[in-house]
Amino acid sequence: MSKPAILVTCPTFPEVLERLSLHFEVDAHTGEQPLTAAELATRLQGKAGAFTVGANRIDDALLKGCPDLRIVANMAVGYNNFDMAALNAHGVLGTNTPDVLTETTADFGFALLLATARRVTESERFLRAGEWKLWRYDLFAGAEVHGSTLGVIGMGRIGQGVARRGALGFGMKVIYHNRSRLSPELEAECGGARYVDKATLLREADHVVLVLPYTPEVHHTIGAAELKQMKPTATLVNLARGGIVDDAALAAALRERTIAAAGLDVFEGEPQVHPDLLTVPNVVLTPHIASATVKTRLAMASLAADNLIGFLINGKPVTPLNPEVLRA
Ligand code: 8YV
Repeated sequence: MSKPAILVTCPTFPEVLERLSLHFEVDAHTGEQPLTAAELATRLQGKAGAFTVGANRIDDALLKGCPDLRIVANMAVGYNNFDMAALNAHGVLGTNTPDVLTETTADFGFALLLATARRVTESERFLRAGEWKLWRYDLFAGAEVHGSTLGVIGMGRIGQGVARRGALGFGMKVIYHNRSRLSPELEAECGGARYVDKATLLREADHVVLVLPYTPEVHHTIGAAELKQMKPTATLVNLARGGIVDDAALAAALRERTIAAAGLDVFEGEPQVHPDLLTVPNVVLTPHIASATVKTRLAMASLAADNLIGFLINGKPVTPLNPEVLRA
């Protein structure tokens, strides 16, 4: 019997490709540039499945032209690159990679928070530029992390990981805002995290960390008005998705010191970065690497492969997003 055909849309671990090849005819895109929408549509002809990443938009226009496609397996926990209504309408299963990246991503949230509050990259640039001539009492004096108030917006698995690290590792008081309140047990696990409305969180937090999934409803959750509500000494970290923060408004707020500093791993229109963010000193910028440890990226790629094999070979995906299409 011939093997089903799949497309792997980006370079990935050789061992994952090898395992996929045991079950599928694999067409692997090896170029560094992501496939354009037109290239994706062409390469998906005759394919039953696709291994995708955030750069691959899967929408109605694409799915209309790919009648053989039955599953798109995203190597990411976030899936805002999928139009779920279109997937449902075309009976295509979507899968993501939850859990395997939770702790690694929460670690990075803290890396960004600490680097931002304690001005790590700003001071390193100063040192490398040969500008360090003397010790001064206020040289790169930043904001306290331990014992301060941590505000988490989006208290899913990763948000809870950030909250636990803050409470247990740094003695922080944790407040959070989320679509729904956590159970008292989970709030206790997160160091007695207190549920508050967004305005209270912005007003009270010393460090605000964004970990909410992107949907059009949360576009520019943090814009000029929200930045004004924050303390002038506060820091903001975006671990979630570009578009949740209005990057132009943030750059202006950083320049005017409306808030003290920001740490960003994600950007509107990435890999482009708003030019104003590149010129303000009080921002730490990283290229969407919060889940990037070798172990975690391999676990994510392996889970995406498990979903393709689980569904197309054994009829049972591991982490389906829209299991209702399985019953249709
Ligand atoms: C991915 C992410 O690396 O999982 C997510 O949602 O943002 C990252 O961990 C990225 O989306 C690649 O697909």
